[in-house]
Amino acid sequence: MPSSRDTPIQVADLSFDYVGRTVLNDIRLSVGAGKIVGLLGPNGSGKSTLLKIIAGTLPGYRGSVQVAGVEVRSFARGKLARLVAMVQQEPEFSFNYSVLEIVLMGRHPHLAGLAFESAADVEIAHAALDRCGILALGQRPIHELSSGERQRVVFARALAQEPMILLLDEPASFLDIRHQVEIFDIVRELAEVQGCAVLTAVHDLNLAAEYFDQVYLLSDRTIAACGSSGTVLNYANLTRVFETELYVDTNALTGKLLIVPLSGRSRRLLAETRAPRRNGGHQDS
Ligand SMILES: Nc1ncnc2c1ncn2[C@@H]1O[C@H](COP(=O)(O)OP(=O)(O)O)[C@@H](O)[C@H]1O
Ligand SMILES: [Mg+2]
Repeated sequence: MPSSRDTPIQVADLSFDYVGRTVLNDIRLSVGAGKIVGLLGPNGSGKSTLLKIIAGTLPGYRGSVQVAGVEVRSFARGKLARLVAMVQQEPEFSFNYSVLEIVLMGRHPHLAGLAFESAADVEIAHAALDRCGILALGQRPIHELSSGERQRVVFARALAQEPMILLLDEPASFLDIRHQVEIFDIVRELAEVQGCAVLTAVHDLNLAAEYFDQVYLLSDRTIAACGSSGTVLNYANLTRVFETELYVDTNALTGKLLIVPLSGRSRRLLAETRAPRRNGGHQDS
């Protein structure tokens, strides 16, 4: 077993049921310090459930889920929040807090008892807003923001939490391409410079190929493949798990994978170029 210092997330023999229906079965996964690991798989394959289990919000799991060497279900709640930050897929805010108030919530696990935030906490929150390019939104009410702006606010809150482990559930799904890259560049810096262990669900296969050290492909309640993104995200695995036709090539600039979806029309073109023409083609004798 690797040490908890080098491998802050260690999951073994994990299964989970929602009211009698098994949605995760026999999951084994680990995330090393300083690594960015991707969770990929079709809708409903259990990515969010797995992240919530590691974040401690679904304690009724079977098997072992260790964070920093401690079983998640036996953690004191406050202690887990000092180690783990989670960016949820669709965060909801029942009150119309300001952006700064929300990012300051990231400091709450670090406050003693019922203490208010200090000037240092406000400074950390401002730095997180600035790093995410949303300092100017600080006083805006959260309910008035676009989905993409809101997504950057919850990411900034996770930064302000200064976690050792960062769990991200499709953190860039509402972001334009520039902001996707900005967020994942920050994630890479957190991993490489600060040694943060990052586990992130994403749908964008090209972002996964570009940024992730390792990926786990979830399908049919379990792990269909895992390893480096260059080996796992191949044509055979992707078409089998996502059940659609794709064009997979190598990015000439980076040498990483380039993965393009194919519409029905493009699939027909592909079939025509692969198969000999039956009518009017030169191959017919
Ligand atoms: N609160 C819940 N109660 C019952 N079933 C759920 C609940 N949340 C998710 N599920 C089911 O569990 C499966 C996995 O869901 P989820 O982890 O959200 O998948 P993903 O994030 O990969 O899309 C899906 O079939 C989903 O319908
Ligand atoms: Mg999900």
